[in-house]
Amino acid sequence: MANADSCVTIHMAASLDGFIARKDGSVDWLETSDEFADGDTMDPEFVEAFLKTIDCYVMGSRTYETALRFEAQGSGWSYGDKPTFVLTSRELPRIRDTVEFYSGDLAQFVNGHLRPKFRTIWFVGGGAVSAQCLRLGLADELRYSILPILIGDGIPFFEKLDRDIALHLAEVKAYKSGMVELCYEVRGHRGDSRNATT
Ligand SMILES: NC(=O)c1ccc[n+]([C@@H]2O[C@H](COP(=O)([O-])OP(=O)(O)OC[C@H]3O[C@@H](n4cnc5c(N)ncnc54)[C@H](OP(=O)(O)O)[C@@H]3O)[C@@H](O)[C@H]2O)c1
Repeated sequence: MANADSCVTIHMAASLDGFIARKDGSVDWLETSDEFADGDTMDPEFVEAFLKTIDCYVMGSRTYETALRFEAQGSGWSYGDKPTFVLTSRELPRIRDTVEFYSGDLAQFVNGHLRPKFRTIWFVGGGAVSAQCLRLGLADELRYSILPILIGDGIPFFEKLDRDIALHLAEVKAYKSGMVELCYEVRGHRGDSRNATT
């Protein structure tokens, strides 16, 4: 049974021109050096408290492979001790007890397995999985962190969608680092009274 209080969020950081990684998968450009004087400072205590509100993570296998590379380079694991579900049809190394693999129907997995168990479900990429999540009407919220950089080409935030998806802008925050965080609610589903097509 689906949990009416559960919320599926898609969150990624992207360049201003809408890419989440270069074509070769590299994300070196995430380290930017801008300074926006009027921006907020990212408070580590706030970030820590916020991360505690996330109940589980979901990601595609290529994003997991990037996380594996980061871990191997000593940059750590970004998902703490939270359950982390990796979508894959392949055999991949399971580097932590919190990692579980899934292959198959994403709607059935989210509605039948994740929503009844978890309240705050974060999809953390990549572009293929985010598009699948949106195409299937599974996302409630989109968090888009735009970095002050253009990279010209790369892996898009979403692979092609087959229809328009109307959004409601719920929050905007600008940070001293020049990053802008946009939070949108996905309109026209799960009891949203706003009309999705207007
Ligand atoms: N900037 C950011 O915030 C950010 C965030 C996340 C990722 N990234 C970057 O984005 C890149 C990866 O994105 P991507 O779009 O190429 O790939 P992705 O979405 O991470 O992974 C796609 C893969 O997941 C597997 N998959 C998806 N749905 C499945 C399902 N229902 N059942 C079984 N397997 C399923 C398939 O691979 P199999 O062949 O394994 O089945 C598919 O090819 C990486 O370079 C990563 O570093 C950036």
